[in-house]
Amino acid sequence: MTRLKSFLLAAVLLSSLGAAYAAPAQQPVQQLNRPQQNAALYAAAPQPLTLEQCGQCHPKHFKDIKQTGGKHQFDCRECHSIFHAYNPRKNNYAAIMPSCNLCHTLVHGEKHSQCLNCHQNPHAAQKPPAINLVVNLCSDCHANQQTQLNAFPSKHTQLSCDNCHHTEHGLIPSCAECHQPHFEAQAFTECKACHDVHQPLAINLAEDVELETCAACHSDIFAKWQKTPSKHGQVSCAACHQVHKQIPQCQDCHATPASHSKNLLAKFPRCLDCHLDVHDLPTKN
Ligand code: HEC
Ligand code: HEC
Ligand code: HEC
Ligand code: HEC
Ligand code: HEC
Ligand code: HEC
Ligand code: HEC
Ligand code: HEC
Ligand code: HEC
Ligand code: HEC
Ligand code: HEC
Ligand code: HEC
Repeated sequence: MTRLKSFLLAAVLLSSLGAAYAAPAQQPVQQLNRPQQNAALYAAAPQPLTLEQCGQCHPKHFKDIKQTGGKHQFDCRECHSIFHAYNPRKNNYAAIMPSCNLCHTLVHGEKHSQCLNCHQNPHAAQKPPAINLVVNLCSDCHANQQTQLNAFPSKHTQLSCDNCHHTEHGLIPSCAECHQPHFEAQAFTECKACHDVHQPLAINLAEDVELETCAACHSDIFAKWQKTPSKHGQVSCAACHQVHKQIPQCQDCHATPASHSKNLLAKFPRCLDCHLDVHDLPTKN
C-alpha cells in the first residue's frame, strides 16, 4: 500500500512538474479561450433600438420627457442624431450633443442665446426653473409691464416684479395676498374689472362694475343717489363717470331742452345752477 501510494504521488508530482515546465513551448492552440464560431448568430441584421429601449437604459430622460417634455415628446433621435459616440480620448462630448438651433431660432433675442442657462434640462425644457430668472431680466421678455408701471406711477411701481410674481416663473398672485376688498362681500376676482395691476390707479369704469365699491369712499353721494326719486337714480355711477375722477358734461347725454331759452342759459350758464344736485335732481313731486 505505502509503495503504491508513493508511486502515485511521484507520478502526480512528475506530471504536474512536466506540465508547468513544458507549457510555453508545447501547449496546442486549441487550449486558448476560443468560443465556438456560430455564423447563424450573425444571420439577422440588428433592428434599430426602439424608443422604449432607450428608456430602459435612460429611465430618467424618458420620464422627464414623458412628464414635462411638452412639445418635445418626439423620438430621442430627432435631437440625438448622434449618440453613443462619446469618447473621452476625443473629448467630443460637446460636439455630439444636440444644439437647440437645429430647430429653434433665437426666440428671446440675441442676448439670450445660451438656451441651457435657463432651460437647464433639455428633456424638460418646458419649465425652466425660476431660480435662473434674474429679476432685472424680466423686461427683456416682458417689456409691456415695465412700460405700464413707469408710465402710470403708483405704489406698485416701487415693487419689484418678484415681490408679486414669486416662487415660480409665470405665477399670477391674487390681490388677496396683500389687500383687503373695498367692502366685505367683494370677491377678489372682481378687482381686475377696475384695476389693471401694472397701472392700478388708471381706472376705467365699465358700466356693470359693482357700484357698492364707490360707497366705500363716497358714502354720502352713494346714499343720496340710492334714495333719489329722480331718474338719475336709475343711471349707473359708472355711466356718468366712465373714468375715475372724470366729470361728465350734461350734454354728453342731453340735448338742451327746447323749453330752455338762449337768454335763460346765458344768465345761468351752468345747468346745475338750476338743477342743483346731479346725484339728487330736484323733481316736481
Ligand atoms: C429636433 C428639433 C428640436 C430641437 C433640437 C429642440 N427643439 Fe424645442 N421644440 C421643438 C418643437 C417642434 C417644438 C414645438 C414648437 C411649436 O409647437 O411651436 C419645441 C418647443 C420647445 C419649447 C416650448 C415647450 C412647450 O412644450 O411648449 C421649448 C421651451 C423648447 N422647445 C426649448 C428647446 C431647447 C432649450 C432646446 C435645446 C436644448 C430645444 N428646444 C431643442 C423642436 C426642437
Ligand atoms: C429636444 C431635444 C432632445 C431630445 C428630444 C432628447 N434629448 Fe437628450 N439631450 C439633449 C441635449 C441638448 C443634451 C445635452 C445637455 C447638456 O449639454 O447639458 C442631451 C443630453 C442627453 C444625455 C447625456 C447627458 C445626460 O443627461 O446624461 C443623455 C443620456 C440623453 N440626452 C438621452 C436622451 C434620451 C434617452 C432621449 C429620449 C428618451 C433624449 N435624450 C431626448 C437634447 C434632447
Ligand atoms: C442597453 C442600454 C442602453 C440603451 C438601450 C441605450 N443607451 Fe444610451 N447610453 C447607455 C450608457 C451605459 C451610456 C453611457 C453612460 C451615460 O451617459 O448614461 C449611454 C449614453 C448615451 C448618451 C450620451 C453619451 C453619448 O455617447 O451619446 C446618449 C445621448 C444616449 N445614450 C442616447 C441614447 C438613445 C437615444 C438611445 C435609444 C436610441 C439609447 N441611448 C439607448 C446605455 C444605453
Ligand atoms: C434668460 C432665461 C432664458 C434663456 C436664456 C432662454 N429661455 Fe426660452 N424661455 C424662458 C422662459 C422663462 C420661458 C417661458 C416658460 C413658461 O412658459 O413658463 C421660455 C420659453 C421658451 C419657449 C416657448 C415659448 C415661446 O416663446 O415660444 C421656447 C420655444 C424657448 N423658450 C426656446 C428657447 C431657446 C431656443 C433658447 C436659446 C436660443 C432659449 N429659450 C433661451 C427663459 C429663457
Ligand atoms: C403688485 C404686484 C405685481 C407686480 C409688482 C408686477 N406684477 Fe405682473 N401681474 C400681477 C398680477 C396680479 C397679474 C395678473 C393680471 C391679470 O390677470 O389681469 C400680472 C400679470 C403679469 C403678466 C401676464 C400678462 C399680463 O400683463 O396680464 C406678466 C407677463 C407680468 N405680470 C410680468 C410682470 C413684470 C415683468 C413685472 C415687473 C416689471 C411685474 N409683472 C410686476 C402682479 C404684479
Ligand atoms: C427669456 C424670456 C423670459 C424671461 C427672462 C422671463 N419670462 Fe416670463 N414668460 C416668458 C414666456 C415666453 C412666457 C410664456 C408665454 C407668454 O405668456 O408670454 C412667460 C410667461 C410669464 C408669465 C405668465 C403669463 C400669463 O399670461 O400667464 C408671467 C407672470 C411672467 N412670465 C413673469 C415673469 C417675471 C416676473 C420674470 C422675471 C423674474 C420673467 N417672466 C422672466 C419669457 C420670459
Ligand atoms: C405682493 C403684494 C401685492 C399684491 C399681490 C398686490 N398689491 Fe397692490 N399694493 C401693494 C403694496 C405694498 C402697495 C402700497 C400700499 C401702501 O403703501 O399702503 C399697493 C398699493 C396698491 C394700490 C394703490 C396704489 C397707489 O399708488 O396708491 C392699488 C390700487 C392696488 N395696490 C391694487 C392692487 C390690485 C387690484 C391687486 C391685484 C390685481 C394688487 N394690488 C396686488 C402690494 C401688492
Ligand atoms: C368698481 C371699481 C373697483 C373695484 C371692483 C375695485 N376697486 Fe380698488 N379702487 C377703486 C377706485 C376708484 C380706487 C381709488 C383710486 C384712487 O384713489 O385714485 C380704488 C383704490 C384701491 C386701493 C388703494 C386705496 C385704498 O383703499 O387703500 C386698493 C389697495 C384697492 N383699490 C384694491 C382693490 C382690491 C383688492 C379689489 C378687489 C377686491 C378692488 N380694489 C376692486 C375701484 C375699484
Ligand atoms: C378707495 C377709495 C375710492 C373708491 C372705491 C372710489 N373713489 Fe372716487 N375718489 C377717491 C379719491 C381719493 C378721490 C379724489 C378726491 C379729491 O381729489 O378730493 C376720488 C374722486 C372721485 C371723483 C372726482 C371728484 C372731484 O372732485 O372731481 C369722482 C367723480 C369719483 N371719485 C367717482 C367714483 C366712482 C363713480 C366710484 C365707484 C365706481 C369711486 N369714485 C370709487 C377715492 C375712491
Ligand atoms: C347722471 C350722471 C351722474 C351719475 C349717475 C353720478 N354722477 Fe357723480 N357727478 C356727476 C356730475 C355731473 C358731477 C359734477 C357735479 C358738480 O359739478 O357739482 C359729479 C360729481 C361727483 C363727485 C365729486 C363731486 C362731489 O360732489 O363730491 C363724486 C365723488 C361723484 N360724482 C361720485 C358719484 C357716485 C359715487 C355715483 C353713484 C353713486 C355718481 N357720482 C353718480 C354726474 C353723475
Ligand atoms: C350718462 C348720461 C347722463 C348724463 C351725463 C346726465 N344725465 Fe340727466 N338723465 C340721464 C337719463 C338716462 C335720464 C332719464 C331720461 C328719461 O328717462 O327720459 C336723465 C334725466 C334727467 C332729468 C330729468 C329728471 C327726472 O327725474 O325726470 C334732468 C333734469 C337731467 N337729467 C338733468 C341733467 C343734468 C343737469 C346733467 C348734468 C349735470 C345731466 N342730466 C347729466 C342721463 C344723463
Ligand atoms: C334757469 C334754470 C335752468 C337751467 C339753467 C337749466 N335748466 Fe333744465 N330745466 C329747468 C326747469 C325749470 C325744467 C323743467 C322742470 C320740469 O318741467 O320738470 C328743466 C327741465 C330739464 C330737463 C327735463 C325735461 C325735459 O325737457 O327734457 C332736462 C333734461 C334739462 N332740464 C336739462 C338741462 C340741461 C342739460 C341744462 C344745461 C344746458 C339745463 N337743463 C339748464 C331749469 C333749468
